[in-house]
Amino acid sequence: MNNPHHSANNRFQLSFMTPGDVPEVIQIENKVQSHPWTVGIFRDCIRVGYTCWVCRENHNTIVGYLVQSIAAEEMHILNICVHPDWQRRNLGTLLVQQAEDAGRQGNAKTSYLEVRPGNVAAIRLYQKLGYKKIGIRKNYYPTDNGREDAVVMSRCLVTPC
Ligand SMILES: CC(C)(COP(=O)(O)OP(=O)(O)OC[C@H]1O[C@@H](n2cnc3c(N)ncnc32)[C@H](O)[C@@H]1OP(=O)(O)O)[C@@H](O)C(=O)NCCC(=O)NCCS
Repeated sequence: MNNPHHSANNRFQLSFMTPGDVPEVIQIENKVQSHPWTVGIFRDCIRVGYTCWVCRENHNTIVGYLVQSIAAEEMHILNICVHPDWQRRNLGTLLVQQAEDAGRQGNAKTSYLEVRPGNVAAIRLYQKLGYKKIGIRKNYYPTDNGREDAVVMSRCLVTPC
C-alpha cells in the first residue's frame, strides 16, 4: 500500500489501527456517536481484515479514525469519526481520501457509505468530496425510540466508472 496522506505540515499521521489502539478509539466513539460501536466491534473489524485507520497528532494522541471494507471492486466506509476538539481541520477529508486511495489500490471502482439523514456535517463532507445520494436503506440505524432510515451515498473512484 502507498504511503498514507500527510497533512501539509506533517502534524497529523495516518496508520493502521491495532487492537492496542481500540481503548483510545472507543473514548472518541463514546463521545461523538449517539449509538457507539463497542470495543468488540472494532476488534472484530481488525480481526476480519477490514482496513482500519487511525489519525494521530504528532505521532501521539489519536484524533480520528475510519473503518472501511474493500471487496468485489467496491469499498464501504463503515465508520468515520474525528474527535470534537479536532473537527473542521480537514481531518475527516484526510481520512476519506486515504480510504479512497486504499480502495483504489484494492481495485475498488466505487465507494459507498450510509449516513443518518440529519447528520448535516457528514453529508456536507461527503458532498464536498463528490459523493451523491443514491438511495435509502429502510430502518438501518437504531434511535432512542426505534429505527431510522439511512441515506446511501456513493462516488466513483475511477474513470470510466
Ligand atoms: C463528519 C466528521 C467526520 C467530519 O470531520 P471533520 O474533520 O470536521 O471534517 P473536515 O474538516 O474535513 O470538513 C470538510 C468539510 O465538511 C463540511 N463540514 C464538516 N463539518 C461540518 C459541520 N459541522 N457543519 C457543516 N459542514 C461541515 C464542510 O464543508 C467542511 O469544509 P469547510 O470546513 O472548509 O467548510 C465529524 O464531524 C465527525 O466525526 N462527526 C461525528 C461522527 C459522524 O457523524 N461520522 C459520520 C457518520 S456517517
